[in-house]
Amino acid sequence: MIKAVRGTRDLLPPDTALWNFVEAAARDVFRAYNFQEIRTPIFEETQLFSRSVGEETDIVSKEMFTWEDRGRAQSDKGQSLTLRPENTAGVVRAYVEHKLWERGLNKLYYIGPQFRRERPQKGRYRQFYQIGAEVIGPPTAGSESPARDAEIIELLATFLDRLGIAGWNLELNSVGCPNDRASFNEALRKALRPVVSKMCADCQRRAVTNPLRVFDCKVPEDQPIIAKLPRISQFLDEPCRKHFRELQGILNSVGVPFAINDRLVRGLDYYTRTAFEFTHGALGAQNAVLGGGRYDGLSESLGGPSAPGIGFAIGEDRLVMSLKESAEPVLRRPDVYIAPLGPGMNREAARLARELRRHDLVVELGDESFRLKKSFETATRVGAKFTLIVGENEVKADSFAVKNLETGEQVSVRRQELVARIQSDR
Ligand code: HAM
Repeated sequence: MIKAVRGTRDLLPPDTALWNFVEAAARDVFRAYNFQEIRTPIFEETQLFSRSVGEETDIVSKEMFTWEDRGRAQSDKGQSLTLRPENTAGVVRAYVEHKLWERGLNKLYYIGPQFRRERPQKGRYRQFYQIGAEVIGPPTAGSESPARDAEIIELLATFLDRLGIAGWNLELNSVGCPNDRASFNEALRKALRPVVSKMCADCQRRAVTNPLRVFDCKVPEDQPIIAKLPRISQFLDEPCRKHFRELQGILNSVGVPFAINDRLVRGLDYYTRTAFEFTHGALGAQNAVLGGGRYDGLSESLGGPSAPGIGFAIGEDRLVMSLKESAEPVLRRPDVYIAPLGPGMNREAARLARELRRHDLVVELGDESFRLKKSFETATRVGAKFTLIVGENEVKADSFAVKNLETGEQVSVRRQELVARIQSDR
C-alpha cells in the first residue's frame, strides 16, 4: 500500500471544515486591516532563501527540499531550485520584481503550504501551512514606524480572540540593526571562545560563522552555556531602543499584553529590530503558534530599493490544533436528503435539488433504485435534518412528503413552499 510520505498528511473532513473556518476568519480580518492577497510560487531559486533566511540557519543548512533542475540540453548545468520553506522571501522577491511600490501595494497576505525537512512530531510537519502577512514599502510611506509593528501585532491579537483562542502569550524582543548586531556578534565571539569546545558541532561552527545562531541550539547540554551569553538588549543603539519603546507604548495603549524576552532572536537571519512569537500552552513542545518580525534590509539584499518591512506567519496546523481544544463544530450538516422513489424519479429529484441549492440549502441526493428504508438510513448517516420523498404520487400532486429526522414529524409540503419550510427549521 502506498502511504502519504513521512511528515506529510491528508487533511480530511470534518477537520477541513475547521481549516476553512480559520481561513475565512483570517480573510475577514485581513480585509478589515486593508490587506490584499498575494500568491507566490511554491518553488523558487535556492539562492533566494540562502540570501534572505541565511546560510547558517537551520532552515537553509539542514531543512530545505532542494534539487537541481535539468537544463534543456543534457550537458546544461541545471538550476538549483527549492520548495519554499517560508513565504517572506518570495513576497519580497515579488515586491522587487514587480515594483509593487509603484502600485501602492504595501500590505499583502498569503495562505499556503511551506516545506521543511524537519523531524516530524506533534505539531511539526514537512509540509505545513502558513497564514502570513507582510507590510512593506518605501521609508517615505512610514514603513519604518513602530506604528506598523504595533498594528501587525494588534491584528494578531484580534484574530486569535475572534477565533476564541484563549491563553496565548506574546513574547517580544528587539534584535537591533546591523550595527548593533556587529557589536553583539563580536561580544558573542569573545564570550564563546573559552567555552565553545564544550558545545555541539553546530555551535562550534556557528561561533565562527554566525554567532547569533548559537541561540537556535536545542542541545540540552549546551543550554547552561547559552544562558550565560550576553543579551542583544545590552547592545541596542538609541534609535533601536526608541523604536522598541514606542512599540511597547502603543501595545500598552491598545491593551495587548506582552512579555519581553531578550533571548528571543528567531531562527531567520533577515530580522532587524522587532521580533515576536505567540505561544500557546496546549500545543506541547512545539508551542510557537506564530512568529514574525521586522526585516528592514531584506529588499536591498535581494537587489531592490530600501523598503523596510514587518510581517508574521501563523502555523495553521498548530492554530487548528489549539482551536480543536475549544471550538464548537463548524461543519454544516445537509439541510435535506432527497429520496427519489421508483423509476424515473431521479429526474424529478435532480430538478428539486437544483431549485433548493439555488436557495443556499445543503442538499444530499439519493438514487431511485433505493428502497425507502435505505433512503432513511442514508439520510440519518449523512446527518440530514429533513428527508424529502419524491415519488410518482408526490410529483402528480406537486406536494412532497417532508420528514423531520430529529422529531420524526412528517408533513406534506407544496413545491413552492418547500424552501421556506426547510429554511424555517434551519
Ligand atoms: P517561522 O517562525 O519560521 O517564521 O514560522 C512561523 C510559524 O510557522 C511557526 O511559529 C510555526 O507555527 C509554523 N511552523 C514552522 N515550521 C513548522 C513545521 N515544520 N510544522 C508545522 N508548523 C511549522 C517564518 O516563517 C517567517 N517567514 C515569519 C515572518 C513573516 N516573519 C516576517 N514575516
